[in-house]
Amino acid sequence: MSNFHSSSEESSSVLQIWGKTPLSGHVNISGAKNAALVVIAGALLCSQDCRIRNVPLLADVTRMGELLSALGVKFQQHGDVLDIDATHISHSKAPYELVSQLRASFFVIGPLLARLGVARVPLPGGCSIGARPVDLHVRGLQAMGANVQIDHGIVHAYVTGANKRLKGAKIYLDYPSVGATETLMMAATLAEGETTIENAAQEPEVADLANFCRAMGAKIRGAGTNTIVISGVPSLHTTDYSIIPDRIEAGTFLMAGAITRSEITLSPIIPDHLTAILSKMQEIGIRTVMESPNRMRILPKQRYRSTDIETLPYPGFPTDVQAPFMSLLTLAEGDSVISETVFENRLGHVPELNRMGADIRVKGNHAIVRGVPMLSGAPVVGTDLRASAALVVAALAAEGKTTLQGLQHLDRGYEHLELKLQKLGAKLQRVQEDTTTEPIPISVDSPISST
Ligand code: EPZ
Repeated sequence: MSNFHSSSEESSSVLQIWGKTPLSGHVNISGAKNAALVVIAGALLCSQDCRIRNVPLLADVTRMGELLSALGVKFQQHGDVLDIDATHISHSKAPYELVSQLRASFFVIGPLLARLGVARVPLPGGCSIGARPVDLHVRGLQAMGANVQIDHGIVHAYVTGANKRLKGAKIYLDYPSVGATETLMMAATLAEGETTIENAAQEPEVADLANFCRAMGAKIRGAGTNTIVISGVPSLHTTDYSIIPDRIEAGTFLMAGAITRSEITLSPIIPDHLTAILSKMQEIGIRTVMESPNRMRILPKQRYRSTDIETLPYPGFPTDVQAPFMSLLTLAEGDSVISETVFENRLGHVPELNRMGADIRVKGNHAIVRGVPMLSGAPVVGTDLRASAALVVAALAAEGKTTLQGLQHLDRGYEHLELKLQKLGAKLQRVQEDTTTEPIPISVDSPISST
C-alpha cells in the first residue's frame, strides 16, 4: 500500500475512522518532512552527486524531485533513499506549475543563486494558514549583493560582477523565520567571505540542513542557535547523508496515544526535539519514559488537566503540533487557552472539532477550549496538513464514525499514516467518497515494519 494517491483519488477519497478503540504496540517514525524538503534543495549546492537517506515517501518529496528534474538535475528515488546529481544545472527558472503546488520549492532560490549567479522562482503565495511572505528571504539575499526584482509574480535574482558570486554579509532577521534562515544559510555556503545570520531560526531542521551542508564541505558554525556564521567556500563535494526523524509526526502519534489512553511506543525519536511538547504533556498529567536512547513509551492517564499553550519559534511550543494538541485538550478537565502566534490563520480545525462536540471559542489568534466529557464522530473537512491530523486524532477518541475529507493535505505530510494507525489497532480505512461501509479488519502482515 503506497502513500501515493493520484490527485483525483485523493480528492474523491475520504478516511472513515471508528473511534473509542485502544491502541497498542509500536510505531516507526519516518524521516522529517521539513528537513527532507530543504535538504533536497540543498543538494543543488553540490557540484557532484549526493545520496540522501531516511527520506519520507510523501507527495511533497515527489514534487521537489519533479522540480529538480525540471532544472536539469538527475533525481532518483529508491524507497527512502534519494540519489541527486546536480553536477549540471541546465535551467535557472523554476516552473510556475510546480512551485504553485509546493511552497517549499522556493527553497531552490538560495542554492541556484549561489551556484549559477541567477535564479528565477515564482513567488510561492499564501496558503490556508497565512499570507506567508518571503520578504526576509529577499532582503537577506539583497544584503549578500543579489539584485532582486519581483515581476509578474516571479522573483528574479541575479548577481553581477566577474565571478557572479554572492558576498558575505551581516544579516539580522526581524523574525526567526525557518525558511529565511535556511535560504540564506544555503546561499552563504558558496559566497565570498563570511556571513552572519542573527536572530536565526533554531529549529532542528535548520541544524539538520547545516549538518548536510557541512558533510559536503561547507563551513557553518552555530546552527541550532540564534547566531549562525558561514564562511563561504568555492565548491561542495559529494556526501551520503541521513535525515533526522520527524518530531512533528512523533508529536502527532503521542497525541493519538494520549487521547485514546493507550500505552504505545515510538522510535526513532530525538527526545531533545520534543522538549516543549513533553513538558506540556507532563503539565496535563501524561508521563513518558525512554526505553532506549531513541525509543519512547507514553504512559497515559484516564483524566487530563487543562493547560495554556502559546506557539513560538523553537525551542518554544511548535505551531505544527498546536492543532493535534488542541484535539487532546478538548477532553481535558477545565479550560485551556491556545494562542497561535506564528501563523495568522491556523485555527481552521476549530469549527470541525466543534462539529465533533468540542466546545471551543476563538478570539483573534486565541482559542478557548472548554473540556467536554466526550467527542462524537461526524463528517469533517481538513483545511490544512496539521488541521487534518488533529481531526484524525480527535476521531480516534470519538464515539462512532468520523468521515474525514481533504486527504490531499494529510498525504503531503504523513507517510503511511493509515497503515501505521491500523498497525496500532485503530479502526480506519480510506474509501471512495460515496462508499458507506463497516470497518474491514486489516491483516497484520502488511509491509510496514512495526519493530
Ligand atoms: C516552516 O515554514 C515549516 N515548513 C512549517 O511547517 C512550520 O510551521 C514553520 O516553519 C514554523 O515552524 C517547512 O519547513 C517546509 P517561517 P516556513 O518562515 O519556513 C513569517 C508544516 O505543517 N515570515 O518560520 O514558511 C511567516 O509568514 C509546515 O509542516 C515573514 O513574515 O516558516 C510566518 O508567519 C507548515 N517573512 C512566520 O514568519 C518571511 O520572509 C514563520 O514563518 C518569512 C516568514
